[in-house]
Parts: sequence; structure tokens; C-alpha cells
Amino acid sequence: MCGIVGYIGKEQVAPILLEGLSRLEYRGYDSAGVAVYSEKEGGLVVKKTKGRLQVLSDVLQGGAALDGTVGIGHTRWATHGAPSDVNSHPQVSRSGRIAVVHNGIIENYVELKAFLIDKGVPFVSETDTEVVAQLVEYFYKGDILQAVYESLHLIEGAYALGILCADAPDQLIAVRKDNPMILGYGDGFNFMASDVTAVIKYTRDVVYMDNGELAILTRDGIQCYNSMMQPVEKEISRVDWEIDAAEKGGYEHFMFKEIMEQPDALRHAIFPRIRDGEVFFENFGLDEDYIRRMDKIYIVACGSSYHVGMVGKYNIERLLRRPVEVALASEFRYMDPILTDHTLVIVISQSGETLDSMAALREAKRLGATVLSIVNVVGSSIARESDVVLYTWAGPEIAVATTKAYSTQLAVLDLLALHFARVLGTIELGEYRATLDEFLLLPGKLETVLADRDQVQYLASQYFNHSSVFFIGRNLDYAMGLEGSLKLKEISYIHSEAYASGELKHGTISLIEDGTLVFALGTCGRLFEKAMSNVVEVKARGADVLAVTTESRREAMARTADAVMTIPDTCDMLLPSLGIAHLQLFAYYVALMRGCDIDKPRNLAKSVTVE
Ligand code: AGP
Repeated sequence: MCGIVGYIGKEQVAPILLEGLSRLEYRGYDSAGVAVYSEKEGGLVVKKTKGRLQVLSDVLQGGAALDGTVGIGHTRWATHGAPSDVNSHPQVSRSGRIAVVHNGIIENYVELKAFLIDKGVPFVSETDTEVVAQLVEYFYKGDILQAVYESLHLIEGAYALGILCADAPDQLIAVRKDNPMILGYGDGFNFMASDVTAVIKYTRDVVYMDNGELAILTRDGIQCYNSMMQPVEKEISRVDWEIDAAEKGGYEHFMFKEIMEQPDALRHAIFPRIRDGEVFFENFGLDEDYIRRMDKIYIVACGSSYHVGMVGKYNIERLLRRPVEVALASEFRYMDPILTDHTLVIVISQSGETLDSMAALREAKRLGATVLSIVNVVGSSIARESDVVLYTWAGPEIAVATTKAYSTQLAVLDLLALHFARVLGTIELGEYRATLDEFLLLPGKLETVLADRDQVQYLASQYFNHSSVFFIGRNLDYAMGLEGSLKLKEISYIHSEAYASGELKHGTISLIEDGTLVFALGTCGRLFEKAMSNVVEVKARGADVLAVTTESRREAMARTADAVMTIPDTCDMLLPSLGIAHLQLFAYYVALMRGCDIDKPRNLAKSVTVE
């Protein structure tokens, strides 16, 4: 939710921190700040401002206004205390000697604050993070690492912390518990950051910190410790993607770039996983015996990843004849789920850091289930704590509104369903092979859908000022509508709802009146006639209907709908993978025409690491 970067080296640190923060701004963007040790001042200089990073950058003249070669920076998504200069990070101890940047939530901050106030410590902000700075100072007797260590015994919650002490300006301290922190290794310099994107310009050698670990960074090296303060040796991983993957590359918005990258992302996710006419997962940890014993599948996720699960439920149940439940991760952990040793829990997450999904994963493991995760970010917490991981290999996704991660998650889940069906013998060999052929054609077919974007842009120009939109469909089309509706509301701020078409007549149809915009999703061939009946019903009540269907049904749909967007025909299970592109593009163009901040929609953050 918040972004942290810290650097110690020989270069001027402020421009490096600003550059790193610019790559982390997707994690939160309501305020930003830096703390730098300045020899000239003989102490820490802290600058922080409410608003986008650009405001801070202007104040710091792009970094030129601050002198120093060690520092920490932060970009914030407010939890405790409204966005303001004083609530921004770094938070500083009363003496000004200790600065802290934090991602996460200190759950017992009220008690700790009361304890410190009782000891005469004054507080200036409303944040939970200030408690950490003050507590570390409370324990500080000249050894900053020891003070941090003692503080951690009292702190409850989730946190990634970056700490700089004016008395020890040749080191930085990084801490990680339930929120991400990576360490970047350089020659004469070292980094800490919430995410690899902040350091990739300088180094590809990174370490993923584990829960409970602390690290001391100096110019010459990094020493990690476990939660008992015993030194630990960490394995250095080499990041294998290029910096341009995290840059706009000429596109106006990351979201549009990522929509257009989907065919290639699908190639990466699918092609290595089909070998000699079979689904192939490298180092797959679920053997055939386990798959045969599986009694039920739970899919657990949040937001768009949950919508992938909704599509998956229809596909898996049809193919496997095994029950599949889809649960919102935030509900799962409190719903006392019924799991057995033979229940497979599939956790889906782009970031691999979503706290609700992480908590659900731990609950599932505690209850004895096997956890398989479908994750995009390599080395993320969810990936590391799962029994089996399937990466989506979509590359870095920066826009808050997910697109290519959604598509690749869906492709991987569908491949998994096919694999299970093959092992269980619930699919005919002919259908299995034909479906795999369709998988191989999917990226190319998606390219043709994206090539039709002018039509979607035109339709967006006709309807962008509507204040309410319905997405209706049955089965897979309903599941796809859930995602289309979320895309529209999160970036354009238009109220929208997705409904199973058959459910409209049970109440919601009363909202349809002259000019209501309805997206009718009718790609599923076997349900097309039913879809058409619902289109007729809403047309009869005055709705403007934009439809999505297959090329072979365009004509039939065009008899009733006001406009029809089509996708190439394919096997049923892949229809949402094509249809969703029209809905993503519609949301994008509508948001563009409404002048919205597409990559950084209000109140949102890319990686949701609070409950
Ligand atoms: C989608 O556009 C959202 N930004 C959001 O719903 C997201 O899918 C959700 O927060 C889950 O994130 P994750 O996949 O990283 O776990």
C-alpha cells in the first residue's frame, strides 16, 4: 500500500530516492517524503509533502536541494490520519535523531502510544508509524540495531520498516513482517525497497527478506538477521526482466500499455506450459494421486483476482464434476471454512502481497488444506508460503487497474483445470487436444479483438457521461461482467453493477429506464437465446444496449442491440479471455474522456497490504 525505498552509497541520495519512489507510486500516492543524513547539517533533514510525488520533487528541486549519500523515502496510502504533511512519512522521533518509513499497520499502536505518552513522549502526528520512531528512541542507548530489536518485541501488526539514525549515518536498517521488503546489492552501494522496480535501474541482484528478518545495510554490504538476531545467509536472486517493462514506453498510460501487452503476456503464460499436446507445469508439486483424492476446490482472492476465480468456478466444475467454492479472501478467514486434507485451496493474487489473501492462505494451511497459488510477482509472500506456485509471467503490472495480470491468471487457472480433467479422466482426449489448440490460438485472437479498439473508443465517446451502467450475462458471461463492472467503476468513478441476467427480473429491472446503459454479454453459445431474451427485456424498458458476442452471432445480436462488439469464436472456456478486452478498453476510454487519473484512481492502491 505504501512504497519504501532506502539507499546508502556514494552518490547524492535524494534524486535516487525520488526516482525509486516514482516507480513505487502505484503503491500509494497521497503523500511522499524523504529523510537524508546531511553532514553539513550534522543530522537528519526530513522533507515531506501532502499530494503526489511531483509536489515533493518540486520542493526538493528534483533532489538537488538536499545534500547527503544515505537516506530513506516513502510514498503513502493513508491508513491512520488523513493525508497531510505531518502525517506523511518519514516519521521522526522527538529528538529528530531517528527517522522511520513504514508500510503496514501497527495494530497495538494505541496502547504503545499511551505507554509512551505516560513516559512524557510528545506526539505530533495521527499515524501509527510515529509510535515506532518514538519507541525505538525510547529504547535507544547508543546501539540503534539493539533499540530496533527491543522495539519489535512490543510491536504487533504488519510492517516493513526502513530506519535511519543520525548517530549511525553509515548504515540503514530494514525490517520485514508480513509486508514486502527486498534488498538490492550493488558495488559500493546498497538498497532496500518495497519492490524490485525501485532498484532495477541500479542493480538486478536482490534478496527477498523473510518474515521477522532485520537487515543492516552499509555501503560495503548487507547483513541479515533472523528474529532471534542470529545472522542468516540469504540467497541472491537475479531479476530477469528489463527496466522498460516497468516504463510507459511511449504510451500515455500504463493501463493502456498493459491492455495492449496482453497477447504477449498470454504467450509467456501459456506456450511453455503446452508440450507435445499435454499441459505441462514445471516442478509441479501436486502428484496425480493427490489430484485423484481432491474432494473440493476453494478459490480465494480479492477484487479482479476473485473475478478470475468466478470464471474458474464455471470452467472447473464443468470439466471436473468436482465442487468449487469461490470466496473473497477477506471473508474466508472469518467464515470457518469447511476444509479437509483433500481440499485444494487456490489463492490468486497479482501482487502476492494482498494481506487478506495472505491471511486466508495461512488459515487454509492451518486447517490442513494444500495451497496452490497463482501469482505474478516472483518471490512475493503468497508465492513463498504456498505449497505449490504457478507464476503468471505477465511482467510488472503498474496500473492500479489490473488487465494483463487478470488475463494471465485466467489462462493459468484454465490450464490447471484442463490438467486436472485429464488426470481425472473427465475430458475426452479429442476435446482436451482441441482445447489446447485453442489456447495456442488465444494470443492471436486477442490481438484481433484489440485491433478493433476504434469501435470501442467511439462507443465510449457516446456513453461516457452516463452515471450508471449495468453488465448482464449468464454463466461465464456473468463472471466476465463482474470484472467489466469493476474496471469501469474503479477508473471512471461511474456507478456500475454486474448482474446474472436471469436475476434482473427479481428486482433490479426496476432501475432500467429510458437511456440506462446496459452491457449485454452474450458470448456463450449454449445460452445465447436466453441472453437475447434478456436483451429484449431491457430494450423494452428503454435501455441502450451495447452487446459483446461472437462473430458467428453478430447478426442475431444486432437485430436488437444498439451496437455489437465481437470476438472470434473459440471454445467456451476461453470466451471470457477474449470478451474482457472490450470491457477493459471501454473502461479505459470512458475514464480518458472523463479526464480521470487512469493509472492512479482516487482512494486506491495497487498492492493492498492492510486488512
Ligand atoms: C483490480 O483492478 C484491482 N486493482 C484490485 O481489485 C485487485 O485485483 C485486488 O486488490 C487484488 O490484488 P492482488 O491480485 O494483487 O491480490
